Amino acid sequence: MKVLVLTGAGISAESGIPTFRDADGLWEGHRVEEVATPAAFQQNPQLVHKFYNARRRHLLQEHVRPNAAHIALAEYEKNHDDDFLLITQNVDNLHFVAGSQNVLPMHGQLMEARCTETDRVIPWREDLTPSTPDPETPSRRGSLRPNVVWFGEMPHGMDEIQMAAQNADLFLAIGTSAVVYPAAGIVQETPVNCRRIEINLNATPQSGVFTETIRGSASIEVPKFLKRLQLEAKTSGEA
Ligand code: APR
Repeated sequence: MKVLVLTGAGISAESGIPTFRDADGLWEGHRVEEVATPAAFQQNPQLVHKFYNARRRHLLQEHVRPNAAHIALAEYEKNHDDDFLLITQNVDNLHFVAGSQNVLPMHGQLMEARCTETDRVIPWREDLTPSTPDPETPSRRGSLRPNVVWFGEMPHGMDEIQMAAQNADLFLAIGTSAVVYPAAGIVQETPVNCRRIEINLNATPQSGVFTETIRGSASIEVPKFLKRLQLEAKTSGEA
């Protein structure tokens, strides 16, 4: 059984990382969509860096850890014999910390910086500013940006995502509001006989195309559902 998982901010909510659209969706009076664009970075790099610096610092706090949903996905992958791909829209690193292996962070990673001149990606834990020197070429200043995908930019791994969607036997969407494309459209790329499961506190615009919708918190419902899958596999003799 080929398994494809898509996660969004809802899976990390119980790890203490605020989602984008559940509260008022504002950061210091700015809509996220206004801060997370290449145009915003050009016009006001200071502001954009400030936004991501705050989020990076938050992620580095001791208490921000993977929750039971991240951990259950990593465990499931370990025991799964066929294809397993975990696509995440989250820029936090919690799936990696939990031990997931085949992870595709389609919107990039907050704990990485990218040089806008060379496209080189480097692990990054510090604040960035418009004059941060590139550690490899210290005379080059201000070329580093957070390695996250902004509105209007192409997410990573689209070919791989499309292929995995077309071959999926089971598609599991967890904690995503299904309003940001192309991620929101992945479910529609899966075959009609693919078992499509949505786990979310609330209904989404895509809920209608799922085979089963599970309403509840990710930390409870994800481990529960994955246990159910394993039991089903045992009963049917499949891995
Ligand atoms: N368990 C399950 N679902 C939850 C939980 C929880 N504990 N908490 C919140 N949710 C659900 C909400 O009901 C909502 O549908 O998670 C979803 C969070 O939605 P968004 O904040 O819109 O996050 P996401 O779908 O990941 O956003 C997509 O938008 O701003 C961009 O690039 C950013 O990757 C992000 C993209």
